[in-house]
Amino acid sequence: MSTSTRGSFSSRIGFIAAAAGSAVGLGNIWKFPYEVGNYGGAAFLIIYVLCAFIICMPIMVAEIAMGRNAQLNPFGTYKKLGGKGWAWAGFFGILAGVMILSFYNVVAGWAFGYFLQISFGDLLAQGDYGAYFGRYVANVGDNMVFSLAFMVLTALIVVGGVQKGIERWTKILMPALISIILVLIIYGLTLDNAFKGIEFYLVPDFGKINMEVLYKALSQAFFSLSLGMGALITYGSYFSKKDNIVSSAALVTTADLSIAFLAGMLIFPLVFFQGIAPTEGPGLVFVALPGIFEAMGPILGRVVGGGFFLLLCFAALTSTISLLEVPVAFVTDQFKTGRKKTVWLLAVLIFLIGLPSMLSQGAVSWLTEFVSYGGQTRDFMTVVIDIFSDIALPLGGFLISIFVAYKWKIARFSDELEHGHPKFRGTWEEKFVTIMLSTLSPLIVGFIVLATILERFAGISLF
Ligand code: PHE
Repeated sequence: MSTSTRGSFSSRIGFIAAAAGSAVGLGNIWKFPYEVGNYGGAAFLIIYVLCAFIICMPIMVAEIAMGRNAQLNPFGTYKKLGGKGWAWAGFFGILAGVMILSFYNVVAGWAFGYFLQISFGDLLAQGDYGAYFGRYVANVGDNMVFSLAFMVLTALIVVGGVQKGIERWTKILMPALISIILVLIIYGLTLDNAFKGIEFYLVPDFGKINMEVLYKALSQAFFSLSLGMGALITYGSYFSKKDNIVSSAALVTTADLSIAFLAGMLIFPLVFFQGIAPTEGPGLVFVALPGIFEAMGPILGRVVGGGFFLLLCFAALTSTISLLEVPVAFVTDQFKTGRKKTVWLLAVLIFLIGLPSMLSQGAVSWLTEFVSYGGQTRDFMTVVIDIFSDIALPLGGFLISIFVAYKWKIARFSDELEHGHPKFRGTWEEKFVTIMLSTLSPLIVGFIVLATILERFAGISLF
């Protein structure tokens, strides 16, 4: 297999499908609702939307532009555009990506297991779905098999290369996922107490906004948009010079946000209908949905419930593909190794790194009660999420803004954006992106991350 020719997307739509495929995943349907539930409902939603469009979108433009200009993985990109001293920033992102994939794959394994158990097993006869979820995630055998299967599937597609693997799937499966969510939303809205759920989700109580809400909404926006660790630098490196980066980023952001929004519209009516606490945490989706599928009756429940979790698996798959592609591009670019061997080696390695996360959900007690900080005992997976997603991604975004504005320089950045968008200079888009990257993004992101680290780990509160 040739290692010197880099893949590329066949068209702008192909890129958008792949980038949106990366963005839309468990972050939208699993993580977003439980974060909304934990951190204030509608107030969180509003901050989240602002973070995504105002802070994150310009950073997305920056990532894609860097990757397309350098035609390399994140490490190589930083090194080529900024010199050796900056290469560590790329490396740090790749490491974050590896760690994110390690736990993400475990959660994808849960979704896969739920698909099988709903469609072909007896999941929908359990009644107490909170207790079932607790037992399910502590069950080593199932989790081992399903998350290994998920990683193998991811690797098989990544071996096939970006173009064949990713574009085609996303274009078919994304509309299917949206359709099933819409149908379920309509169903959910007919249930008792549905509007209490909608009220929680859409009517803001601004008194709930505090530093933690700001931080969680910001980091969730980074996670959901696949930003801050170089996934979009990598995909940008396969993006054609003829296409418009700014409008593509706007589309990807809008698509991602819309699906997260719909996931909330789906979950909260069901949560309030069943009297589940919105603060249920990472089990929220797995606890709130099965009861509804059960109520649909044995056959329809299996079909709709199984279909939902199957589509969730596909959404997760287009994200795990992008997560695995990052270290693969790094190793093949930098060490000129064969793609196939590299993919399998990294997939096995990352699966192994994910084992402690998998076992920290009740299976092994010291991993389940791993450390205490911020007044709470945290399991190993939560620690990995805290460090490598919630802190590392905004920090990565901070570095990208500083890098583009002060090292690579706005003039070169704008030159890159002019490819595919010849009239870019002088537009409001240029002004917006430039002001955000050079001042507002690094200031806001830097402040929120710093304040949170101080508060969480050092017990120093700035307010
Ligand atoms: N954006 C993906 C999701 O929401 C997760 C992800 C994060 C993918 C970072 C790639 C990089 O599910």
